[in-house]
Amino acid sequence: MAAIDTIVIGAGSRGNAYGGYALEFPQELNVVGIAEPDPIRRDLFVSRHQIAPEMIFHDWQSLLASGRAMTSSIINCTMDRFHFESTMRMLDMGYDVLLEKPMTPVPEENVRLVQKAEETGRLLQICHVLRYTPFWQALRKVVHSGALGRVVSVTHRENLAYYHMAHSFVRGNWRSQATSGPMILCKCCHDFDILLWILQKPVVHLSSFGSMIHFRPENAPEGATQRCTDGCPAADSCKYEATRIYARAGSGWPQNAVTYIPTPEARLEQLKTDWYGRCVYHCDNDVVDHQTVNMEMEDGATVTLVMNGQGDEECRTMRWDGTKATLYGKFSSRGDELRLHHHLTGEVEEVPVIARDSSGHGGGDYGIVSSFVKALKGDADESITTARESLESHLLAFAAEESRLTKTVIDMEAFRRGLESRAQS
Ligand SMILES: NC(=O)c1ccc[n+]([C@@H]2O[C@H](COP(=O)([O-])OP(=O)(O)OC[C@H]3O[C@@H](n4cnc5c(N)ncnc54)[C@H](O)[C@@H]3O)[C@@H](O)[C@H]2O)c1
Repeated sequence: MAAIDTIVIGAGSRGNAYGGYALEFPQELNVVGIAEPDPIRRDLFVSRHQIAPEMIFHDWQSLLASGRAMTSSIINCTMDRFHFESTMRMLDMGYDVLLEKPMTPVPEENVRLVQKAEETGRLLQICHVLRYTPFWQALRKVVHSGALGRVVSVTHRENLAYYHMAHSFVRGNWRSQATSGPMILCKCCHDFDILLWILQKPVVHLSSFGSMIHFRPENAPEGATQRCTDGCPAADSCKYEATRIYARAGSGWPQNAVTYIPTPEARLEQLKTDWYGRCVYHCDNDVVDHQTVNMEMEDGATVTLVMNGQGDEECRTMRWDGTKATLYGKFSSRGDELRLHHHLTGEVEEVPVIARDSSGHGGGDYGIVSSFVKALKGDADESITTARESLESHLLAFAAEESRLTKTVIDMEAFRRGLESRAQS
């Protein structure tokens, strides 16, 4: 079967990650169009994918203005606040859409997006990339094999390395509730999704705590300047010092978030004026830097999710306790690990995990595009994320935020009903 033609919206970090699949597997996917307002990003993307002039657009609005679908599929990699309006239009126009997570930071809009996909009969697949990694597929297989017995308790940690926290949630794109949404949604809709995908049970009650402890002006070192480029006296002793993080060799993430011009000099210049040069104690951030969520599942099992922005290593770690065995796991670019401790025999079994491919998120970036392409070719795989399924992970994140803010336990059934009815009005 011929390669699927698609259009990418947003030639930023994610647009390029998914575009990479088309370059590596041209027999599967062909990127024939781009919508991106930043000229440097747009030109680079155009030359990488050899896009014809008539398929180059300044933004999603001009791409969709004709009201006519130009391909059968589209990959929407714009920032969170653009997802709703653009995707509603795409679905109406007949596109099948691969949409970045979170679907949208406004709770009711998530329900409306799912309804629109169901009404129009279009595929709306959400980029919950973890499902498509060898690690999570192996973990799921162990749990579903019954080797753990009945699952009683799960502890799951999303450990952000301190520099990732500062980059994304203090200085960068996801620092503000108003422009991006709560951090537990932006960072952990993945984690809720993966937990539900493995446990296959709904959450009945949920509570959550968290706050922003560290990234406040009162925690700034003495004499700290507003920008790291202003001769800050604390530069040598500050782990967040921007020029060390961004004005070094290499042109991948996080350096390319500052500018796509791939030189340390260009980045250093940019740091003098843009977000990423700011002192982390003097930003306009208001999202939390740590949060925990406690969940009671329908069968009585309990699950704790910990999101923490002061990690030494970027990784997810977890412990699953069942009536027969305990499973310990670590999902990390330094090496995936899964170990099963059998209670009766004391045997410790190393669970094999297939090596990651070269794509980001432990192989999930290419995994999800491959799954989308298969679905478009009429051969959907079992890890496909329907929009309705993705909705549930988003609802858990919104419920966690409500619990954190109101200091109450959320009854998930009532929460779901309330949201569905608000979405109708
Ligand atoms: N699945 C994952 O694991 C994962 C990881 C990181 C980010 N994300 C999500 O992916 C999305 C994109 O994040 P990113 O890191 O690529 O951000 P980014 O800022 O690198 O890219 C977004 C791009 O959209 C472009 N853009 C802005 N307005 C536009 C418009 N009107 N039309 C078309 N393009 C427009 C920007 O210029 C930018 O290049 C976000 O929703 C984010 O939350 C998902």
